[in-house]
Amino acid sequence: MLAKVQSCAVIGLEGALVEVEVDLSNGLAAFTIVGLPDAAINESRERVRSAIKNSGGLFPYKRIIANLAPADLRKEGPAYDLPIAIGVLAASGQINPDTNVEECLFLGELSLDGSLRHTNGILPMVALACEKKVKTVFVPAADAMEAALIEGVTIYPVETLGQLIAHLNDERQIEPFIPNPHILDNVENVYYGQDMASVRGQEHVKRTLEVAASGGHNILMSGPPGSGKTLLARTMPSILPRMVIEEALDVTKIYSVSGMLPSDMPLVLQRPFRSPHHTTSHAGLVGGGRIPRPGEISLAHRGVLFLDELPEFGQNVLEVLRQPLEDKVVTISRAQGTITYPANFMLVGAMNPCPCGFLNDPVKECTCSATAITRYQKRISGPLLDRIDIHVEVPRVDYEKLADKRQVENSETIRKRVQVARDRQVQRFKGTRITCNAEMGPAEVRTFCEVEPSAEKLMKAAMQQLHLSARAYHRVLKLARTIADLAGSDVIAANHVAEAIQYRPRMGV
Ligand SMILES: Nc1ncnc2c1ncn2[C@@H]1O[C@H](COP(=O)(O)OP(=O)(O)OP(=O)(O)O)[C@@H](O)[C@H]1O
Ligand SMILES: [Mg+2]
Repeated sequence: MLAKVQSCAVIGLEGALVEVEVDLSNGLAAFTIVGLPDAAINESRERVRSAIKNSGGLFPYKRIIANLAPADLRKEGPAYDLPIAIGVLAASGQINPDTNVEECLFLGELSLDGSLRHTNGILPMVALACEKKVKTVFVPAADAMEAALIEGVTIYPVETLGQLIAHLNDERQIEPFIPNPHILDNVENVYYGQDMASVRGQEHVKRTLEVAASGGHNILMSGPPGSGKTLLARTMPSILPRMVIEEALDVTKIYSVSGMLPSDMPLVLQRPFRSPHHTTSHAGLVGGGRIPRPGEISLAHRGVLFLDELPEFGQNVLEVLRQPLEDKVVTISRAQGTITYPANFMLVGAMNPCPCGFLNDPVKECTCSATAITRYQKRISGPLLDRIDIHVEVPRVDYEKLADKRQVENSETIRKRVQVARDRQVQRFKGTRITCNAEMGPAEVRTFCEVEPSAEKLMKAAMQQLHLSARAYHRVLKLARTIADLAGSDVIAANHVAEAIQYRPRMGV
């Protein structure tokens, strides 16, 4: 007897349909899985055997072959337990032949007692089911909420294999999962962490962070120890604009394949904030491993990647950021194939200006030699610095400002302004793949950055006197566009350009 059921593999963030064929024949009892399975799938035999036995089914005493097709696609992970078990049951006549199991998609890891466990990557797999017009999907009950984010597919939450057998034999129906229509309402109750109001002084840095958050610009903060750089960066999540639903689904897919989605909240609604330590490896930062997994830059997709103490990161670790910063994706090649993960993040860096940290400090004298300073600053290469739109100095805070009891602006007020500015950008770039000003290429800069005559004059003067490069020219225009958006202006005025010029890099380049 032969039975076929559908399942799914995830390559990178994309799903691929996998057909599970199970054939039973007479002969010496054996259970073999073929079709490039990894160790977890080979162990699946033991789980399937026990799960069927403990769910009231009969494990056939025959020669069993399960084939995962297409055979040239490497399969990994325990998600094939359920389709293999259903294949075995169907091939041995324990499932009503009138039930069209061939047209359903089965996903999930089995326990020995027959219950279904949480499985990674459910969202991209169900997204594929929808694309391939599969109408019915059976998933572990714990993942039903995540699966239901995709519309147009009937999701059945399965607690145990026994329950699923009863459903397929029309003995006891499982109710399809009804998605919660209020899932997006939770966005108002998220916890943002540190509030901007807790940072005293540093008004110009706060303004710079506001501009960066509005337009998605990369930013580097430099200043003496204890001036509040880390503190300021950690307040970033509280002023970032909301994600639109497509962005949220993108981010959720990454967290789904990484197994980092909380089960009670299957949709990532808040922009991610990742701050890897400077001892992080290549693979940890950009993704990799024998079976490639998303790295920190992909986990920070649509959010912030905060690199504290930037010069302490290994030089070659930093250099690998150059390509993703430009392309917004990272491609990892392995012998088994190539995987592309999205990596459209906003880079926030913090550093001291020199090894002792007090270069240019008005109070404490810097004790570093000129060569030590150059060597330290050279750890961040020119091309990387050049990809950071905004450079800002974070000076020490005076006692008066620190001790000041007056209320300062809180994050909510700033976030509202940022949101308005970002909404203007989303509106502007409707129909394109761009979502914020920082992503504009030269063509878009020409189309969307309309400059007033007085601003043009200022631009020309700056180009000539400050010897700005072509890249710097575009950078200033993009920043000026964001500043104009914050001011609610359709054209870029001279004061917007003037502010944008201030943010240009001072170091290295
Ligand atoms: N502007 C500020 N307002 C309120 N508290 C501040 C401010 N700046 C610094 N602090 C206090 O100083 C502590 C240290 O600041 P933070 O860690 O941000 O410094 P840093 O600039 O990152 O220093 P380093 O260069 O050594 O990493 C903060 O936890 C906070 O308590
Ligand atoms: Mg710090």
